[in-house]
Amino acid sequence: MSEGWEEKFFGKEEKRRKDEELLKTVEEVFDAFTLQALYKLINKKVIDVLYGVVDTGKESRVYWAKSPQGEDLAVKIFLTSTREFKKTVLQYIDGDPRFEKIRRDTRHIVYAWALKEFKNLERAYEVGVSVPRPIAVHKNIIVMTFIGENGVPAPLLKDAEVSDYEEMFWRVVDNIKALYRKAKIVHADLSEYNIMVWKENPVFFDFGQAVLTSHPNADLFLERDVKNIVGFFKKRGIEVEATSVLAEILGC
Ligand SMILES: Nc1ncnc2c1ncn2[C@@H]1O[C@H](COP(=O)(O)OP(=O)(O)O)[C@@H](O)[C@H]1O
Ligand SMILES: [Mg+2]
Repeated sequence: MSEGWEEKFFGKEEKRRKDEELLKTVEEVFDAFTLQALYKLINKKVIDVLYGVVDTGKESRVYWAKSPQGEDLAVKIFLTSTREFKKTVLQYIDGDPRFEKIRRDTRHIVYAWALKEFKNLERAYEVGVSVPRPIAVHKNIIVMTFIGENGVPAPLLKDAEVSDYEEMFWRVVDNIKALYRKAKIVHADLSEYNIMVWKENPVFFDFGQAVLTSHPNADLFLERDVKNIVGFFKKRGIEVEATSVLAEILGC
């Protein structure tokens, strides 16, 4: 047999083992469509291997993964059957034969949600807002760069050790401003829970609910975001009025 045979063989074996592990990790949680979507991202060489779960939420799970180039990835997978959502929908369609396709519809609403988050992330990234780099979106799965190290995500602002809160505050404000003025979006769920701190810099994430500045409630959401941030930093000794920060962002 030719040289390198074992390596090749074990390479394949390793790949099979990895696939099995991937299945073990996710098959209890996800339906066949999600598994298919994951395999598509693997075949497209976006994801090489999926490691452990980083965070389990009501509507999504975030996994640490690696690209074939060895880059750390965060893979956010939206659950296609959240309890409340299903309950609401089922109230209206249970037992009605016209709605046999409701499962499909439910999934497609979730796909649209994932796409929305990805597009918002792209807009933010393109104008230089500090966010994870968006890499791919497919069905209910978003792939972006992993913020953190060795599968450990960067601390959230609420838990992070910050040496200079004043500096951090203005960095956060600068990012809100760039989001509003350049990307023309408002995060709309901004707080110390949706900002990580990595290498002394704030990193915004979780853009699912972000809206365009043309949205009728955009300025209301902006005000809420700013109040959350000002409230958090106030507890850390930074005394700045929300109104003056808003004026700074809006440029008036
Ligand atoms: N790009 C990323 N890199 C590292 N960790 C991440 C990344 N995106 C999300 N996380 C982790 O996953 C958690 C949940 O992500 P998030 O987008 O806020 O989901 P949810 O919509 O469920 O709130 C975050 O608090 C963070 O710890
Ligand atoms: Mg969140």
